[in-house]
Amino acid sequence: MEAKDKHFKRYTITSALPYANGPIHIGHLAGVYVPADIYARYLRMKGEDVLFIGGSDEHGVPITIKARKEGVSPQEIVDRYHEIIRDSFERFGISFDVYSRTSAPIHHETAADFFTKLYKKGVFVEKRNQQYFDAEAGQFLADRYITGTCPHCSYEKAYGDQCESCGTSLSPLDLINPHSTLSGNKPVLKETKHWYLPLDKAENWLREWILEGHKDDWKVNVYGQVKSWIDQGLQPRAVTRDLDWGVQVPLAEAEGKVLYVWFDAPIGYISAAREWAAETGKDWEPYWKADDSKLVHFIGKDNIVFHCIIFPFMLQQEGSFILPDNVPANEFLNLENDKISTSRNWAVWLHEYLDELPGKEDVLRYVLTANAPETKDNDFTWKDFQARNNNELLAIFGNFVNRTLVLTHKYFDSNIPALENLSEADEHILALMQAFPAKIGHSIELYRFREALSELMNLARLGNRYLTENEPWKIFKTDPERVRTVLAVSLEITARLAVLSEPFLPFTSAKLRKMMQINAFSWDQAGNKQLLSAGHQLGETALLFEKVEDSMIEQQVQKLLDTRKANEAQEEKPVKPQKEAVQFDDFAKMDMRVGTILEAEVVPKTKKLLKLLIDTGIDKRTVVSGIAEYYQPENIIGQQVVMLVNLEPRKIRGIESQGMIMMAENADGKLCFVAPSEAFMNGAEVK
Ligand code: MF3
Ligand code: ZN
Repeated sequence: MEAKDKHFKRYTITSALPYANGPIHIGHLAGVYVPADIYARYLRMKGEDVLFIGGSDEHGVPITIKARKEGVSPQEIVDRYHEIIRDSFERFGISFDVYSRTSAPIHHETAADFFTKLYKKGVFVEKRNQQYFDAEAGQFLADRYITGTCPHCSYEKAYGDQCESCGTSLSPLDLINPHSTLSGNKPVLKETKHWYLPLDKAENWLREWILEGHKDDWKVNVYGQVKSWIDQGLQPRAVTRDLDWGVQVPLAEAEGKVLYVWFDAPIGYISAAREWAAETGKDWEPYWKADDSKLVHFIGKDNIVFHCIIFPFMLQQEGSFILPDNVPANEFLNLENDKISTSRNWAVWLHEYLDELPGKEDVLRYVLTANAPETKDNDFTWKDFQARNNNELLAIFGNFVNRTLVLTHKYFDSNIPALENLSEADEHILALMQAFPAKIGHSIELYRFREALSELMNLARLGNRYLTENEPWKIFKTDPERVRTVLAVSLEITARLAVLSEPFLPFTSAKLRKMMQINAFSWDQAGNKQLLSAGHQLGETALLFEKVEDSMIEQQVQKLLDTRKANEAQEEKPVKPQKEAVQFDDFAKMDMRVGTILEAEVVPKTKKLLKLLIDTGIDKRTVVSGIAEYYQPENIIGQQVVMLVNLEPRKIRGIESQGMIMMAENADGKLCFVAPSEAFMNGAEVK
């Protein structure tokens, strides 16, 4: 992969818009946001004009499915996760210039206008055809509303838009043995009309633009995937859907139809730029339309077809936009040898990490970069996390900085000694040091972030080696002048670390700059021989990194083991089959009422039983209930419950129990209250 010599005037950096149906996990971070952030921070330090774009992807079927499952509106789902995601990115130091969302009005407008422009140009092909329809749910089955067997790899749970096993993009009619995910039914065919993007006409252009034009500068994994897509033959792709959640198709004849999520979401990058411009008074158009702007999409490998083929084709057909200069997609990160999965809760969630390991933002950034899945899938393990913190950040970077600052404090009262009386060896070290900005920068510009980070660590190694060779702590008594020089050189290296670590470890960089009382130097200044001046007073020294103890790691591993256990329990214990049918009259005999717990205490000499006093609306009565393993008496006073009030009274442990509290029981035998969904009148009937 070669860097192109062309100089760009501004950079438009996008990072895949995460679906707002779950929080951010380490897989997202390693694949997309950490590398994108390193790139953006680096370019800013180079003095470049950067627009770094992020935002939530709030449309698409998975969001409506989740909303349906939880019995809330899709808007409620995306509001919840947009908040969590944006907040966790901010706390983690992802330096977006704008973090927008696709439910924003400016996005609906931008996406609809984009569609209209292509429509007016006659780009789309209109097709009436038969599509799967769930008669029971009264709905067409787009994308994830339908599953079946993949015709390519025979995976049985392929979706209507994609097989997650072999990665092939599908349309619902490709599926063998299709099923509605709404009802489980076999769907019927029904006629509908949609607008298609004629990707079949894009082949020659794509071959020229990517396969020839980007042979040398796109990553092998990206180039390879694109080539195989093109070689397989591209098909026209519908960009509209029969759904009620998304951007309305701006055509009178398209009522009840929305834009396909993968049509509207990438346009979200453009909407975000417009939002940013409106907020800052800047002009967004050069970032998207000027030939001297460099557009780079940071994504995960499952997004390659959309960012390398479909979106570029949309941009090209629209006519006024630039195309991506590069799409440095990463492979996947696994967690403890298992695929990260939101639905199986197999993940390290960013917002939980930030809460549970405060002050360790940079440790995670470091580990995810050092172990980034740049060329192949990689594995995150907590053991590796610990080792990289203790043996690398702490033992190499932290140790060098700490020795230098502590010795300067001890010998020279934290006054920086002059950089003079340099030996040939000192000059050599300084020359090596000065080469680092260019070296690290070169790797970053080639999207090799692991390599860039390991160069940064080499700078700290250089410092450690220099200290060890010169042993200032041994010669201070006999040759204090020499120690002045050695520490002056070491402090120059330390200052360099403060500057060059900024893209990778922004919190550490800020802390170190504060400790040294130095400015934010530019990237290129770090190539100078001297950043510090003699006599400059250093600030207070603190440790940059703390040891990660076994106990911390064990806790995190235990959390994952608990998740695995819960998942296995769920898999092993299927839901109990339905009981025999009953007559309505039998059911109607049961008198169930809403009640409130007034008092609760453990029944003496028992572990499982609580004695409760319940206000049933009818009266106040005593009930003995086997829930003491799951609830503390003091925590359930005021809890509303559903109670069977006309159950024959029974004596339990000498106490007369006058009814039964309704509880839900899971496969493990765990119990929880069944309560009205809002505060309700005691005595209200449940039927
Ligand atoms: N939400 C998609 C995903 O998580 C990514 C969308 S990227 C954009 O896979 F281009 F559509 F914005
Ligand atoms: Zn498949």
